Amino acid sequence: MTTNDSAASPSGRLGVLMPGMGAVSSTLIAGVLAARSGGPAPIGSISQLEFLPDPDNPDEAGRPVADACDLPGLDDLVFGGWDPISANALEAAETAGVLESRDLAPVSGELEGVVTMPAVFDQDWVRNLDPIRVKESTSKWDSALALIDDIERFRVEQRCDRLVMVWCGSTEVYRPPSAVHASLEAFEAGLKSDDPDIAPSQIYAYAALMTDTPFANGSPNISCDTGFAEELAADRGVPIAGKDFKTGQTLIKTTIAPAIRARMLGMRGWFSTNILGNRDGLVLDDPDAFRSKEVSKLGVLHDILEPEKHPELYGELDHEVRINYFPPRGDQKEGWDAIDIFGWMGYPMQLKVNFLCRDSILAAPIVLDLALFLDRAARAGESGVQEWLSFYFKAPQVPDEDGRPEHDLFVQRDVLLSKLNGWAS
Ligand SMILES: NC(=O)c1ccc[n+]([C@@H]2O[C@H](COP(=O)([O-])OP(=O)(O)OC[C@H]3O[C@@H](n4cnc5c(N)ncnc54)[C@H](O)[C@@H]3O)[C@@H](O)[C@H]2O)c1
Repeated sequence: MTTNDSAASPSGRLGVLMPGMGAVSSTLIAGVLAARSGGPAPIGSISQLEFLPDPDNPDEAGRPVADACDLPGLDDLVFGGWDPISANALEAAETAGVLESRDLAPVSGELEGVVTMPAVFDQDWVRNLDPIRVKESTSKWDSALALIDDIERFRVEQRCDRLVMVWCGSTEVYRPPSAVHASLEAFEAGLKSDDPDIAPSQIYAYAALMTDTPFANGSPNISCDTGFAEELAADRGVPIAGKDFKTGQTLIKTTIAPAIRARMLGMRGWFSTNILGNRDGLVLDDPDAFRSKEVSKLGVLHDILEPEKHPELYGELDHEVRINYFPPRGDQKEGWDAIDIFGWMGYPMQLKVNFLCRDSILAAPIVLDLALFLDRAARAGESGVQEWLSFYFKAPQVPDEDGRPEHDLFVQRDVLLSKLNGWAS
């Protein structure tokens, strides 16, 4: 297996591999292609738009993160991926309907050139999709070897100096980790015996780590937050991060909840509901897939409000989350939050949030930042769980399974910027 010999340098081409060529990945690729030919700025990306203070010129605006931290340029990125349905990034973008044809037209040739590889897919794990481009493996072990071959072939054919992988595939059904995930030995035995508890996203994570490819999980799936993946990441010195991109409702939740908590106001209930009509919404229409999303969305308030420390303020809190599949709305999700709070002498108040967002428009810059930051971490010799990337995730993965993740967006931002400042040269 190839190792990243050029790890210390940002020079050369960085391959960004995405299992799942759907709304998020095609929107990311189109935006990067547009930005590098002078189109719209990469709005929402910390790596491209934020500044870090320059210690030599503290009165100046500072230096862009990408320059200060020696990140690859957008021109250095090469995209690839797998999908059981979309044949290429253009087809994916047209199906997703996130971007208008006037924005796709200038980059349509390049998008069409991002041809997806047939997927490792299993309908037991994603029930609402009908796959047409799936690998014909005879076992999960063969599937893993086929993915490793794909990665190495991509590395050579696309002349990549380094690779990163960001899972942008569908949400799989919820199944808690079992003994087969506990160690690398158990997992490899499970691959060979076709253990039904092994999900496709876990096979991609395994293949990434076996090829020394940093891996981030953008979905709520259980993939690199498992014993085998943490062991493999540590053994091979590869960074990992997860999980579930923090985009719309949870982004807002993790800004409002800290404000309520900071003022020692009470909270009795938080009801979150969404309507969503894209392929992600179709997949989440399966109650077992929704359960994965629910688990990742629900942890947030408990960790921010700490009801065990303040039972009089948060001990009675009801937190509900719903997602309804509503095709007319496409990728333009609408979320409502009804928040019941109380103040002095227990008097109740209400806060309503109606966020008409665009899911993939919010997620695309997260994928870009994760790819560039994971590559930077690998070049710095970091390995294992990258907790400082919690800023980007609904359910941040922490190195110690008993550890408490940080959800407050502004604390997460401080941690992220402090890490980047440490790299600024
Ligand atoms: N869009 C957001 O704001 C957002 C936020 C948080 C998390 N997410 C998660 O990111 C993921 C992608 O979201 P999206 O809106 O692009 O969804 P999407 O449905 O448009 O794209 C997902 C793609 O993954 C493919 N896929 C399914 N199983 C696969 C497999 N085993 N291998 C390879 N490809 C596979 C599907 O065919 C589909 O094209 C989802 O898991 C979603 O829950 C999205």
